[in-house]
Amino acid sequence: MGQKNSVTVTDNRNGKSYEFPILDGTIGPSVVDISSFYKNLGMFTFDNGLTSTASCQSAITYIDGEKGKLMYRGYDISYLATQKIFADTAHLLLYKKLPTDEEREAFRLELKRRSFIHEGMIKLFDAFPDNAHPMAILSAAVSTLSTFYFDHLDVDSPSEYMEMAKRIIAKIPTIAAFSYRYSRGLPIIYPNLDRGFVENILYMLRAFPYDHVNLKPIEVKALDTILTLHADHEQNASTTTVRTVASTHAHPYAAVSAGIGALWGRAHGGANESVIRQLEVIGDVKNVEKYIAKAKDKNDPFRLMGFGHRVYKNFDPRAAILKNIRDQLMKESDIKIDENLVEVANKIEETALKDEYFIKRNLYPNIDFYSGLILRALGIPKDMFAVIFVIGRAPGWIAQWIELKEHNERITRPRQLYVGPEERTPKY
Ligand code: ACO
Repeated sequence: MGQKNSVTVTDNRNGKSYEFPILDGTIGPSVVDISSFYKNLGMFTFDNGLTSTASCQSAITYIDGEKGKLMYRGYDISYLATQKIFADTAHLLLYKKLPTDEEREAFRLELKRRSFIHEGMIKLFDAFPDNAHPMAILSAAVSTLSTFYFDHLDVDSPSEYMEMAKRIIAKIPTIAAFSYRYSRGLPIIYPNLDRGFVENILYMLRAFPYDHVNLKPIEVKALDTILTLHADHEQNASTTTVRTVASTHAHPYAAVSAGIGALWGRAHGGANESVIRQLEVIGDVKNVEKYIAKAKDKNDPFRLMGFGHRVYKNFDPRAAILKNIRDQLMKESDIKIDENLVEVANKIEETALKDEYFIKRNLYPNIDFYSGLILRALGIPKDMFAVIFVIGRAPGWIAQWIELKEHNERITRPRQLYVGPEERTPKY
């Protein structure tokens, strides 16, 4: 008879049983500690895509996919997205607490002071061909930061890695804006220290020398909300990449640069761009029924982009918040939101939410269904959508890097089920 807080595994080949302890978290499912599995049974466990594996202990983000719940360090996402600003969330992720008013101002000032990039780095942007994808430039440039800011690279010193953290969060928007402007042959615009962190992003993307840029508060709020909602999402593909790189004792510049690569794919950071492309293809409300039928047809690979989620099975709490923001943006009459695409999106949502196929499979609009339309209304081109995601996710990735460091975690080194050839006899 096994202990209450353990799982017993019996090897039916020889009848031997082994116990594995159950570890409980604060909330959410417990885990079975199988770290001695190989030692005891001489076998590895197999979990393709790691869907049943907790790869680490973490105190940063909690998700309950059934209840549609998302919290950063114990704060519900709707509180952070509606009552706080992105700088508060970044502070919360990095320093484990929401800032006081003074701490917020000090943190924002620290980010402002670090928002410029070394002038020598400008040559890097020049080296890329026209139309280079901004994600490629961003990944290269974040890694390059380590060569220009080599004064604080000690990964074992908290003051040095906090310096790297602030530099990355502050400089990524500037690099992002520069990479966009270079890719379009536009003059680069330096950060404006009179503007806030999020305001500066829109300013650097839109401005022209000597031209006045007037940003509406709702535009800044919309982007701020998108960044807050993307700031962390526990152990997804890019965060797992960041933690894997961090586990080798590589500095945050290297880890974040690798995370950008992982985020680039259409199954991850590229999803909202796919939503817009799909809405453009559908083109008109009268085509919606046809495309819904395609999505339901098992012989057709077509899927409704922006619907369904691997973790959220009832609703995506981030989607509800963004839907509200999209509606607020639409009310501001002189903000150009593509009304035809919104009509198509609304029709899809209305039809799918009433359809048995989608109801039975718990398929609801996810964050990407709304974020693409908002970014478009803010005048941000499609190939910059994933870059905006990076700006939002940077504090989360770095918080995960720091946590791994504080836990002194071992290098990540999974094993495999080898299915290649047995030893072949070479011909000499
Ligand atoms: N359109 C039509 N059918 C769908 C969709 C969809 N968008 N999503 C899932 N289904 C169906 C599947 O065909 C399957 O049907 P079946 O049970 O009859 O075989 C069932 O729903 C379950 O689908 P899975 O792929 O097993 O669900 P999973 O949880 O693995 O996938 C995923 C989640 C990848 C997000 C999926 O819903 C999808 O492809 N959605 C569209 C792409 C998208 O919006 N991605 C962004 C996700 S959010 C983010 O990454 C930030």
